[in-house]
Amino acid sequence: MAEPSLLEPFRLRKEDVHTFISNSDNHIMRKGKDMIGFFQEDADPDRLIYEVFEIRGPHSTDMGLTIMKPGKIGREYHMTKGHFHESESADEYYFCLSGKGIIVMQSAEGEIRHLPMNEGGGVYVPSGWAHRTINIGDDDFMLLAIFPKDAGHDYGTIEEKGFRIVVMEVDGQFAVMDNPSF
Ligand SMILES: [Fe+2]
Repeated sequence: MAEPSLLEPFRLRKEDVHTFISNSDNHIMRKGKDMIGFFQEDADPDRLIYEVFEIRGPHSTDMGLTIMKPGKIGREYHMTKGHFHESESADEYYFCLSGKGIIVMQSAEGEIRHLPMNEGGGVYVPSGWAHRTINIGDDDFMLLAIFPKDAGHDYGTIEEKGFRIVVMEVDGQFAVMDNPSF
């Protein structure tokens, strides 16, 4: 992990993620034991669900590279915790570097959207919308996120209530379903 510093120009393709990782100054790992209550069933405590490498140095924006393992807990695909931003004006851009996933977004009023994320594509998350990414593929799902330095992360609201929808495997395919615990 590098000390926070000014960066040299760098390219970011799936082949170049080591460049991003070597410049990152924060590393978050989420295993089953870190995500109790997020899935319908609890995961093996030591199973790695995803990790995030962040570059939060002296720059105007922060960046996060999420690498999510493929897999399911019961029938529910691996996913991030999901969060609202603490800052009301903080929006975010996501770019998919590899793999296959879905991003779920939910406004404070409960409006819900879900969009596919595939290699080479991106998604804009407007301010005020909670967001969670889900790996529905058979390989690592890698995402670059760019967000304002003052965004702040509110995980508690989602931890308490979840999202209105869940993404499950049904007959070998992914299906977006109402969350029975919402
Ligand atoms: Fe975010």
